[in-house]
Amino acid sequence: MNFHPGQVLAEVLVGPVAHGGHFVARHDGRVIFVRGALSGELVDVRITEVAKRFARGETVAVRQASQHRIEPVCPVAGICGGCDFQHTTAAHSRELKRQVVAEQLAHLGGYEFTGEVAEVVPGDFGWRTRMRYHFDESGRPGLLAPRSPRVVRLPEEGCRLAVAEIAAPRLTGPPAAELIAVAADDQVVFAATDEKPVTVTQKVGARSYEVGTDGFWQAHLRAPEVLTEAVLAGLNPLAGEVAADLYCGVGLFAGALADVGCTVFGIEGDRRAVEFAAQNVPEADFRAGDVAKLADRLPTSLDLVVLDPPRAGVGAAVLPPILARRPRAVAYVACDPAALGRDLGIAAKLGYRTVSVQAFDLFPTTGQVECVAILKPE
Ligand SMILES: C[S@@+](CC[C@H](N)C(=O)[O-])C[C@H]1O[C@@H](n2cnc3c(N)ncnc32)[C@H](O)[C@@H]1O
Repeated sequence: MNFHPGQVLAEVLVGPVAHGGHFVARHDGRVIFVRGALSGELVDVRITEVAKRFARGETVAVRQASQHRIEPVCPVAGICGGCDFQHTTAAHSRELKRQVVAEQLAHLGGYEFTGEVAEVVPGDFGWRTRMRYHFDESGRPGLLAPRSPRVVRLPEEGCRLAVAEIAAPRLTGPPAAELIAVAADDQVVFAATDEKPVTVTQKVGARSYEVGTDGFWQAHLRAPEVLTEAVLAGLNPLAGEVAADLYCGVGLFAGALADVGCTVFGIEGDRRAVEFAAQNVPEADFRAGDVAKLADRLPTSLDLVVLDPPRAGVGAAVLPPILARRPRAVAYVACDPAALGRDLGIAAKLGYRTVSVQAFDLFPTTGQVECVAILKPE
């Protein structure tokens, strides 16, 4: 049977959770990635996209509900693309993410993940310190619908994922324009994306990091501490060791490694972030550019490496020159378990085994999860 967008399929049995916050269902032998469902449910699905080998759809009616289903708190849950799992409990959403991490790491990396997805702060809401709002046709702020440029206007109470200061901007703007909202340690900023970015300050431990409102900073208010602690605990750095912080942003992990007395080299693609990193961690040596192109300029021997790439991961071109420097430990911080699984598999072929993977719920109510893997030479 050929599906077409808009078609509604009745009483589809929902299978396991898939990477990306969807659930796998089969209908007439074809795979459908369904949004807004839960495993074991019988739901009516409206087809939203048809690809060659699968279709995508959204739940329009629940005929037989899972015991884990709850009423979402937000009136635009399911309509807005921000949340994937508001229709279930925080505990169950972490179990779903555990299944995704275990499946991706086993399938792509040959690694058996036996851990849990750790709760970082109790509850689901009030954790995002950075938001990107879009103005709708009447100039009111909203968020994008799933896989669509359509703007869903914020409810009166604002976005529950955001910390209170930036959850409900009372600003208007031209349709399709974007508004960046940042709740930093020193100030709250609302800036249109075509305005000059503002420099804000974030504090982590005893160190202050300056970062542009247009640059990368971890979104969850507890992420910098949680990830830094996991990286340091896994690497166990010693004073005098030589370390590389790759994809270093404004120097978060470089600062933590410098604080324990390591000699740190950082590489980052965003030139402005590198300028901030050099101010934030003046003890370290930072280079601006593509890690793939600059990896050969790292010292020929490294004791420790931190990898914190974007969603695409590090990949087969970048891992060989880094692991050839035979670091005694590598911390890989990953927001995509599929890319992490692939890279753990590549690292294994280069003589690095995965000794631990921790998973953290740094994106509650969404399908996203952050992992920290520690690799050591065989
Ligand atoms: C997930 S962020 C991590 C930043 C930093 N470690 C932190 O925690 O704040 C990934 C960073 O990689 C940078 N990046 C993306 N592709 C890159 C590349 N090919 N080479 C160097 N840096 C890159 C981005 O600009 C971004 O700052």
